[in-house]
Amino acid sequence: MTPIPRYDPFSIDLHWLVAVAVLATYAIGLGRELVPTGQLRTATLALHLSLGLSVFVLTALRLGWRGLRVSVPSLAGQRWALLASQAMQLALYFALIALPLIGLFSVWAEGRGVSVFGLCVLPSPINADKRLVEPLEDLHAVGAHLMIVLAGLHAAAALVHHHLLRDDTLVRILPLALAQRLRPGA
Ligand code: HEM
Repeated sequence: MTPIPRYDPFSIDLHWLVAVAVLATYAIGLGRELVPTGQLRTATLALHLSLGLSVFVLTALRLGWRGLRVSVPSLAGQRWALLASQAMQLALYFALIALPLIGLFSVWAEGRGVSVFGLCVLPSPINADKRLVEPLEDLHAVGAHLMIVLAGLHAAAALVHHHLLRDDTLVRILPLALAQRLRPGA
């Protein structure tokens, strides 16, 4: 069986780390309202901010690595499907960069710094302007829901490739042990 052109291990690790961090940040962002007000709620929001910043840093790393590594050839397929997948990737990368930045600016606009896992604080480089806080928070919330819809479509497309089209689109981005279980010889 011909080996399939796989992503390199670092790209695979970054892909799944970002996926887990986005889901956790989204769930904590939504779930924070259920936490009773007080120290626990403050800690929950702080965790949301730190995890959200990790998404930004990991995505910047991914984009940098993508520019450095040898590109993985596209699998054979319809031209429209290739274009759709490229448009989806572009939209996801845009959201992964823009959404954390909008969240960050919404906190900075309040005149607060952002603690990063309690290790250091990112002080605000802008003048506080309370009028900006609500529009930025609203944009952040709408953007977050849109991003989860995009991520869901992205995951659904991967499952269609694997189960219906039976190609290697999903297998080549899975960690090696799992890929080999699904497709011996991968
Ligand atoms: C991929 C990264 C992120 C995702 C998916 C995300 C998602 C969310 C979601 C779903 C909410 C709840 C929205 C609602 O109530 O309907 C939220 C709220 C919030 N997020 Fe994020 N977020 C991310 C990154 C960040 C970052 C990096 C910051 C700041 C450093 C941040 C700051 C905030 C703030 C301040 C709120 C609360 C707004 C309020 O109190 O109403 N977020 N986020």
